[in-house]
Amino acid sequence: AETGYRLWLRYDKIENQALLEKYSSQIKSINFEGNSATNLVAKKEILMAINGLLGKQVPFVSTNSASLIIGTPQSSSIIKAIINSDDLPKTADGFLIKSLAFNGEQKIMISATNDKGVLYGVFHFIRLMQANIPLVSLNISETPAIKNRILNHWDNLDGTVERGYAGSSLWEWHKLPGFTPTRYTDYARANASVGINGTVLNNVNTNALSLTVPYLLKTAALAKVFRPYGIKVYLSARFSAPIEIGGLKTADPLDPQVKQWWIDKTKEIYQYIPDFGGFLVKANSEGQPGPQNYGRNHADGANMLADALAPYGGIVMWRAFVYDDKVPDDRAKQAYSEFKTLDGKFKPNVLVQIKNGAIDFQPREPFHPLFGAMPATPVMMEFQLTQEYLGFSTHLAYLGTMFKEVLAADTYAKGEGSTVAKVISGKLDNHQLTAIAGVANIGSDLNWCGHPFAQANWYTFGRLAWNPEFSAGQLAEEWISLTFTNDKTAISGIKKMMMGSREAIVNYMTPLGLHHIMAQNHHYGPGPWVNDAGRDDWTSVYYHKADNVGIGFNRTATGSNAVAQYFPAVADQFGDVKQVPQKYLLWFHRIKWTDKLSSGSTLWDELVKHYYEGVKSVDSMQLTWVTMKGKIDEDRHQEVTQLLKIQHEEAKWWRDACLLYFQSFSKLPLPAGYEKPE
Ligand code: GCU
Repeated sequence: AETGYRLWLRYDKIENQALLEKYSSQIKSINFEGNSATNLVAKKEILMAINGLLGKQVPFVSTNSASLIIGTPQSSSIIKAIINSDDLPKTADGFLIKSLAFNGEQKIMISATNDKGVLYGVFHFIRLMQANIPLVSLNISETPAIKNRILNHWDNLDGTVERGYAGSSLWEWHKLPGFTPTRYTDYARANASVGINGTVLNNVNTNALSLTVPYLLKTAALAKVFRPYGIKVYLSARFSAPIEIGGLKTADPLDPQVKQWWIDKTKEIYQYIPDFGGFLVKANSEGQPGPQNYGRNHADGANMLADALAPYGGIVMWRAFVYDDKVPDDRAKQAYSEFKTLDGKFKPNVLVQIKNGAIDFQPREPFHPLFGAMPATPVMMEFQLTQEYLGFSTHLAYLGTMFKEVLAADTYAKGEGSTVAKVISGKLDNHQLTAIAGVANIGSDLNWCGHPFAQANWYTFGRLAWNPEFSAGQLAEEWISLTFTNDKTAISGIKKMMMGSREAIVNYMTPLGLHHIMAQNHHYGPGPWVNDAGRDDWTSVYYHKADNVGIGFNRTATGSNAVAQYFPAVADQFGDVKQVPQKYLLWFHRIKWTDKLSSGSTLWDELVKHYYEGVKSVDSMQLTWVTMKGKIDEDRHQEVTQLLKIQHEEAKWWRDACLLYFQSFSKLPLPAGYEKPE
């Protein structure tokens, strides 16, 4: 049965006979001289891929007669002889794939300045073959735009995963360090294949135990598996660890004993894991301890850890996801209020990790106002791959379009063209330290991510971290051809489903800028009526503010004035009801039910249209998917068919629940042509 376990690394024999023959004539033998651990895994991969795709054994040879030559000028005398090393990308991880004539023969060369680059080049080359791309006149030179491309696992030590919908944690802590199943290697292969080079193993709501020696040994065992694949491990650090596992009375970052404790702890970590990446910290948010408990600020806390890590080259990723119901202001404003003034106060090895939007991974949020607002600080993106607010692993949601919407957003920090992508790739403010994080959607499920299509979000995150300029459509196509089929009609049909899938969800859950109206705690299904959650900012009514007159959160100057946190060009647009993109309307404005929108419809009618449109889009996805029967394997076809059916029912559930609830305020009928909610 096809379980989806192989992800996009499927090396089945190429079906197109002509292409198969062509490839076979082009790749008769391989020369790959290097012997480092990274070279060895790259060799293993290329052999597995080529033998699988060509359906026959291709030999490794030690001479320059080989048709595929792989290595760096240091690891390979042949590469050294045939390549001008000035042609190689200078930056770490970059690679060059080139067709060339040598000794009268056509050859293909995969080269880089370091072994990691070679590994990425190998995976790229494999991808070309998987996607049936002709191997002629190749001249592909790539360098990643962002240096640290990191997954954040919200995995707990007891095997559960916070907001995880794909089984339990991959990390079997109780069997580590002794047992490291093949699955860990496959995890590393999948990451390396898309350029991911770091992983935070444990939840941001963390337990100080993860920093004790027994757990460091377990972490070291994982690091050992991942190392050849160019993947560093990081840990979430609990700010109060000096108290919990260090026996100190305080975790005050300015206390000399506390500082020393972290220096010693960090030294110990590097003894076990010499290439440890650093710490991720959630502090003073949702009840987590932090420097503010001692009257200090985020910079005080981050800098203390940064000092401890600096001698080893480690980094601190300090999260800006902070909010507190004790702060009476609009929750959307809090991160900016706390961090903006700290710009320039952080040590050079600190990054501030910012979620894509100011609330919390909603189906749609305008970009976070902190992007571009801290020019003196390296800031990084935090995307959520796990679909906490997008139907878990049940609904089909391709997030490539969402990631791109945010990356392409213009902050206007330094005038037009100051995109979020430029901010996080260090281009806008000239930062060398750059990073991006994706909250992982990976678990112990056979297919890793629960929904077969959820794998696309892991894939696309890695590819966009490598190059934020890739388009969502191009990456969808790539992923489909690697994961499902090279059939052109199938690719275009599936691509259409994927490209519209996130908008469908926005429409049936939170259209027109609505947000945070899901059910309480578990966040699955509608809950616009939630009005008592122990604190206002965990209710829904706080965010939509519907009453008999209208709906929406006034974040303009006459309201919370959150718009003022954006640069003027953006603030003017978002703050003006006539200019704000309709998709953000109710995020920034309070509108009367009967107000006419630019579309000519009233707000109420427009809302109804969007909710219905969302359900209709799921109808079309289902119809398209039916036509894929026979074009892809039966197992995954069946799974997706079933999941789409659930999604369809739940889209109606969202639509009807939200419309009936909002109708109790608007008291307006559905516009003509719309059926009554069931
Ligand atoms: C969301 C999520 C929490 C998570 C938090 C975070 O609020 O629901 O489970 O801990 O984000 O990112 O810290």
